[in-house]
Amino acid sequence: MPSKIYSAALVGLDAQPIEIEVDLQRGLHVFNIVGLPDKAIEEAKDRVSSAIKNSKLVPPNQSNRRVIVNLAPADLKKEGPKYDLPIALAYLLVSKQIAFDPENKIFVGELALDGSIRPVYGIMPIALAAKAYGLKELYVPEENAGEAALVEGLDIFPLKSLSAARDHLLKLKPIAPLAATPLPPIKYEYEHDFAYIKGQEFAKRALEIAAAGNHNILMSGPPGSGKTLLAKAMISILPAMDKNEVLESTKIFSVAGLVKHKEPLIRTRPFRSPHHTSSAAALVGGGSVPKPGEITLSHRGVLFLDEFPEFNRDVLESLRQPLEDGIVTVSRVKGSLTFPAKFILAATMNPCPCGFLNDPQKDCVCTPFQVQKYRRKLSGPLLDRIDLHVTVPRVKYEKLTSEIVSEPSARIRERVEQARQIQKERFKNFGSATNSEMRLKDIKLFCRLSEPCQEIIKNAVHTYNLSARAYHRVLKLSRTIADLAQSETIEPHHLTEALQYRPQN
Ligand SMILES: Nc1ncnc2c1ncn2[C@@H]1O[C@H](COP(=O)(O)OP(=O)(O)OP(=O)(O)O)[C@@H](O)[C@H]1O
Ligand SMILES: [Mg+2]
Repeated sequence: MPSKIYSAALVGLDAQPIEIEVDLQRGLHVFNIVGLPDKAIEEAKDRVSSAIKNSKLVPPNQSNRRVIVNLAPADLKKEGPKYDLPIALAYLLVSKQIAFDPENKIFVGELALDGSIRPVYGIMPIALAAKAYGLKELYVPEENAGEAALVEGLDIFPLKSLSAARDHLLKLKPIAPLAATPLPPIKYEYEHDFAYIKGQEFAKRALEIAAAGNHNILMSGPPGSGKTLLAKAMISILPAMDKNEVLESTKIFSVAGLVKHKEPLIRTRPFRSPHHTSSAAALVGGGSVPKPGEITLSHRGVLFLDEFPEFNRDVLESLRQPLEDGIVTVSRVKGSLTFPAKFILAATMNPCPCGFLNDPQKDCVCTPFQVQKYRRKLSGPLLDRIDLHVTVPRVKYEKLTSEIVSEPSARIRERVEQARQIQKERFKNFGSATNSEMRLKDIKLFCRLSEPCQEIIKNAVHTYNLSARAYHRVLKLSRTIADLAQSETIEPHHLTEALQYRPQN
């Protein structure tokens, strides 16, 4: 009789239980793994054999038997070394070196040659799947236990080594299941506070609006005017995450292998700043077993693209669909996968290659052709998806050296959180979280315009030559501005402020 043990495979951001069967047959020794394994699983043979031998048990290569390992379902691609532990245990079971009931138990872990167990990634979705499928006990590498314990309603057993697993399963040295620990309150820690950034009130206001309603922002200005500084300071005004958002982000980071074992929860909004040499795949995700890219890692947070025009044009164009839909579809050999991607795009650029176009103090040395070439890197459709276009001029000497401390980030964050609260209430039956996610029918419902407002927007559509998309984006932006002012209706001055952020040329 073959033995059977449960483990789990990742499919996008979710996991699915799989069965690991091991059979022993008469004949010359072979050790075969079947069921769409990748290279790392193929190599499990050597790790499993050494780990078993060094745990003072009899490894497959000393058994004089044909050892067949089957990972089922066979049509699901499986990857990584996380099946070492269940393969080893299933072998020990079938070769009658240990005896335990594998029902209701799920095992993951990589084996080191000496038999100790190494951490793996993707534990959070595995724990969620174990719970969803009604399995009771999850056995994980010790380092991953904290992450697994975030999912309530499962007994999590942290394992140090194959011998420790054996001793526990044989009830020789039982391991206590990990108790779920309450979360400590979050501490906001950030490098840059708005209080120490001088002047730039216009840009700060725009960042506040972007944070409040999840709107995209592009800051343009001469070198050294503080664009990068302002964008980085945006972390400090992002609202706290609710529990669902925390779990969602932790799952994404877990699948990407970016969870810290000591602090597994992602509790503050992600702020990702990929370099301008990044590839389209790094940004949107992909691979033969698709992994989330930067836009999914910044889901519910910020994707910061510094020096925006320096990115490859095809990389920037790959952002168009996710910016519109809030999801990204990654194709793979069998069908396609969808990852969430509701992020705030915060980008910076200089107005021209030398950086001084329209600067009152320094002359621009670029030819009109150079300026045009530089700007052409950003396509019209991409710019159309950006709600807030902000000019960041150089700070005057008097302002830079003044002793006046500006409004601290904590106070701005309070206003942002209030505005988010209003949006949460508004959309509680609509499945979205922020104004930027409103669909056409939501816009109709929540962005009603008074007659004077209608007059303003009508004129603006002509003067700014607004596209239908830009028109709807202006409405959503004015809804956020009204929310920040805690006004139920969109007033003319909310709308005119929103229009100020459209590109001026
Ligand atoms: N408003 C400001 N208040 C205080 N310091 C500032 C301000 N603006 C710029 N600085 C100082 O100048 C440095 C450079 O700013 P930053 O890197 O943000 O410029 P930038 O606009 O991104 O320039 P570039 O176009 O060259 O990338 C900051 O690290 C900071 O020390
Ligand atoms: Mg910069």
